[in-house]
Amino acid sequence: MGPYLSGFGNHFATEAVPGALPVGQNSPQAVPFGLYAEQFSGTAFTAPRSENRRTWFYRLRPSAQHAAFAPFEAHGWRTDGPPPSPNRLRWSPLTTPQGEVDFIDGMKAYAANSDVETQSGVTVYLYAATASMTRRAFFNADGEWLIVPQEGRLRIITECGVIEAAPLSVALIPRGLKFRIELPEGTARGYVCENYGAAFRLPDLGPIGANGLANPRDFEAPVAAFEDEDAPHQLIQKFQGQLWSTTLDHSPFDVVAWHGNLCPYRYDLRRFNTINTVSFDHPDPSIFTVLTAPSDTPGTANCDFVIFPPRWMVAEHTFRPPWFHRNIMSEFMGLIEGVYDAKAEGFAPGGASLHNCMNAHGPDCASYDAGVSADLKPHRYEGTMAFMFETRFVLRPTAQALALPGLQGDYDAGWGGFEKARLP
Ligand SMILES: [Fe+2]
Repeated sequence: MGPYLSGFGNHFATEAVPGALPVGQNSPQAVPFGLYAEQFSGTAFTAPRSENRRTWFYRLRPSAQHAAFAPFEAHGWRTDGPPPSPNRLRWSPLTTPQGEVDFIDGMKAYAANSDVETQSGVTVYLYAATASMTRRAFFNADGEWLIVPQEGRLRIITECGVIEAAPLSVALIPRGLKFRIELPEGTARGYVCENYGAAFRLPDLGPIGANGLANPRDFEAPVAAFEDEDAPHQLIQKFQGQLWSTTLDHSPFDVVAWHGNLCPYRYDLRRFNTINTVSFDHPDPSIFTVLTAPSDTPGTANCDFVIFPPRWMVAEHTFRPPWFHRNIMSEFMGLIEGVYDAKAEGFAPGGASLHNCMNAHGPDCASYDAGVSADLKPHRYEGTMAFMFETRFVLRPTAQALALPGLQGDYDAGWGGFEKARLP
């Protein structure tokens, strides 16, 4: 893999052919080599400078050169379902599909609170794939993608260049950017958060100070790379909840140079600077926020991406696992590896759980018993990485997710064995 460009939100400038990038202006009358200048805007033109995201592409052909799109059916993307359930739900991991299933065909929508028309909410997918996308590209007009690989490395070819993301890393793909996903290891499994709201960004740090949590320089953007390939390519887009397809006579990954601050990133979760208590009590999990997509209400995210990484637990006279809680935010959790500290069993790597608005959850009986009787020496959680997509809107499990054989029928039983407290 080539080098990466370092720094979240930076204005990068990169060219795959020396001299391809115009100097001093965005759209000169004569772009070098006859390349086509095209602006890719991820925010309104008039968004404040601190919010504004846009990139200029210099490409072999303009993106506008395509035939009409026709509807494209893919059952796994459907988000329809019964009225939202207040019940706590948990799924065992997806099994590897039979035959050749690429990333587009291997997507399964699990839960949505999407309102793509008003640009708020998210859809959460799990994917299980056995084949690279071949002469097939995709872009999402509805939202950006946060991809959380759980098994199998991804090679993501984008208009901006190539990024690789293995388990314990995540990839962030802007709304509208064309990409193709290849599977160097043959199979892949993981999670996708499709964010319809404002783009993910690093959270403010408040009293933590200038450093900590995910540091900007650890986000890596690709250098410019392109394909000069005159052969048919299918281009699929998601637009207002539906998939559409057209055929190009060339590869859409023909951007020779680009500059701007709207680009894909990868981030290695092992670089997260985890902060925790050094006195007592279990802090709110917001201290583990990697990225946040704000809503119009300050501090109330359209979606937060939160991780539970390896870390020292040193709290004194404290119940160290997550406490019992009822939360206005709705929580979709996944597990990349290891064991999550609130669940003794049933939450497997590749699995998922959903705890919706105001519905009680917390440690299961076994984790509770271990927590209240633990010898409170400093203890390190090793080899674990759980995560959460936490959103202000109730998540509706999809009909297809509720029909999966992996949906666990006995999840409530994990909280069934608590004994009544004994008053004096
Ligand atoms: Fe929770």
